[in-house]
This record gives sequence, C-alpha cells and structure tokens, in this order.
Amino acid sequence: MGQNEQEWGELAKLCEENGADAIELNFSCPNMAEGGLGSDIGQVPELVERFTCAAKQACHIPVLAKLTPNVATMSPAAEAAKRGGADGIAAINTIKSIVGINPHTYVSAPAVHGHSAVGGYSGNAVKPIALRFIAELGQNPALQGMHLSAMGGVETWRDALEFILLGGNSIQVTTAVMQYGYRIIDDLKAGLNLYLTEKGFGSVKEAMGLALDTLNPTTDTLERDTVIFPQFIRERCIGCGRCEISCADGGHQAIRLDENRRPVLNGKNCVSCHLCILVCPQRAIRPGTKRITHK
Ligand SMILES: Cc1cc2nc3c(=O)[nH]c(=O)nc-3n(C[C@H](O)[C@H](O)[C@H](O)COP(=O)(O)O)c2cc1C
Repeated sequence: MGQNEQEWGELAKLCEENGADAIELNFSCPNMAEGGLGSDIGQVPELVERFTCAAKQACHIPVLAKLTPNVATMSPAAEAAKRGGADGIAAINTIKSIVGINPHTYVSAPAVHGHSAVGGYSGNAVKPIALRFIAELGQNPALQGMHLSAMGGVETWRDALEFILLGGNSIQVTTAVMQYGYRIIDDLKAGLNLYLTEKGFGSVKEAMGLALDTLNPTTDTLERDTVIFPQFIRERCIGCGRCEISCADGGHQAIRLDENRRPVLNGKNCVSCHLCILVCPQRAIRPGTKRITHK
C-alpha cells in the first residue's frame, strides 16, 4: 500500500519485477497503522482513480482494485478504478465492526493495554453483505468487461457458486482457509465440479451472472398480493408451540394452539410471512396450496 501516486507506482513496478502475475491494490483494509491508507482510500473515488492510474502506468500486468464494503454503494469507487485503468475489481474486504464488549473491563476486543478499536469483520457472517456488493457490481453496466474477483465468507462450493451466479469471475477465500486450511479448496473445487456436471454446464463461465436478471435492487418491485397459507402436518408436530409464540409476538397473531397444543390457523390474520415455517424445528409446516389475491 502506498500513500501517494509515486509510492503506488513504485510498488506496482516492484511487484512485476519480482514475478507477480497480477496486482491487487489494497484500497480497503480498515486496520491500518497510519491514516491515508487502506479503506481511507477506497471511500474516496477520486483517490481510487488516481492511485489505480499510477499503478497501472508503472506495470504491464493486470491490476485489480480491492474495494471496501464500508460504503453505502461500491459502484462509485469501482467506476473510478475503471477510469484509472483497472482490469478488475476485487471485493469485499472486511467490514468495520465491534465483535463484543467485556462486561468486566468494559473494553471491546481486541483489548490492547485497556483500549480497543473498531476493526475488520470477516468470515461466513459477512457473506450476505458481500453477495449484495458483488450483485451491485455485477449488475452495473458501466463495469461490463471488468474482471470481478469475489470474496467474503466463502467456505464451501455452494458459497463460491453463489458469488459466481451473481457475476463473480474468480473467487477468493481468506478466513475459511485460516480456520480449516488450504484443503477446503479441494472440497470446494470437487463440489463445484460435481454441481456443474450434474447441471450440464460445459464450463464455470456458463454459470457466471445467472442470478443477476431476477434480482431486483429494492423490494417495492415485488408482487405482494398473493397469500400462501401455512399448512400444518399434524403427524410431525410435537406441540412445542414455537409457531404460536413467533406468530403472536413477531407476526400477526394468526396461530393458536388447540387443546392438544397443535396449531390452528386464523386465515383472516395470516399474511403468509411464513415465520412459522422458519421457526418450526420439526419441519411440520409447509407452504399450502391455497392462494388468495387481495385486489
Ligand atoms: C486476518 C486477516 C488479514 C487480512 N489481510 C488482508 C490484507 O493484507 N490485504 C487485503 O487486501 N485484505 C486482507 N484481508 C481481507 C481478506 O482478504 C478478505 O477480503 C476478507 O476477509 C473477506 O473474505 P473472507 O471472509 O474469506 O475472509 C484480511 C483478512 C483477515 C481476516
């Protein structure tokens, strides 16, 4: 990482001279020893453009800009990287977070001489956020043709596939390798290959971006008039009452328990949120066939 054009250029040149096949410009790490580095750059598109341009002009190998998720939208920085000549985007880096606070010392982790700091969060918990950013970049027509190296919480072949389906052209894994070792990459490749073969894909490229067309940026575009009532499978129900509690306290008070603690639906209150289906530990509730259109 550099702090000005000259440093970024020198670093890019050195990387190429020392045999790098490609360079990833770290505009995104939130855990820096000094200001003006890492995510301080990725949050300012103008700096992304200038430093990408400096690195690109100093070498002949592909240059990717690695961007920060600590922004509302990633497109401004990604488009700036493209203007600077980047061949691709890598995302996401870690998300600024606080993982917890010690109830005795009142210091959050990591504690260093009684003080702490906001740091970068990674691993499987960040995957939904990472997928959202990859989709944003994958759907951005201004970025067409740029390589998209996707990451954030990938542990299994299925995680990798989801990033590919949202437009990822290559996948990176950090935290899961730290936890489980490089061997998981063999499992990841084997699982992905099996999936691709079973689905009849000739190459992984055929799967890239397949989930983008059906993904709307906001929920207001979705149809909301159809109601699919839950259907209770009495033989599987153990009478735990979780569906009733969730519906009463977090839903629309549409479920009551009968004298045998079996759920009974009040269709007038049900909005088919399917919270009951989610919380049932017995898989004793499924979407029913009845649909009503309120129009
Ligand atoms: C301990 C640790 C060190 C990291 N160091 C770097 C780094 O030096 N440069 C960088 O661009 N990203 C770095 N990252 C970010 C990861 O490369 C990756 O973008 C992020 O952790 C999300 O992917 P993951 O969930 O697979 O870890 C680091 C992540 C962790 C957990």
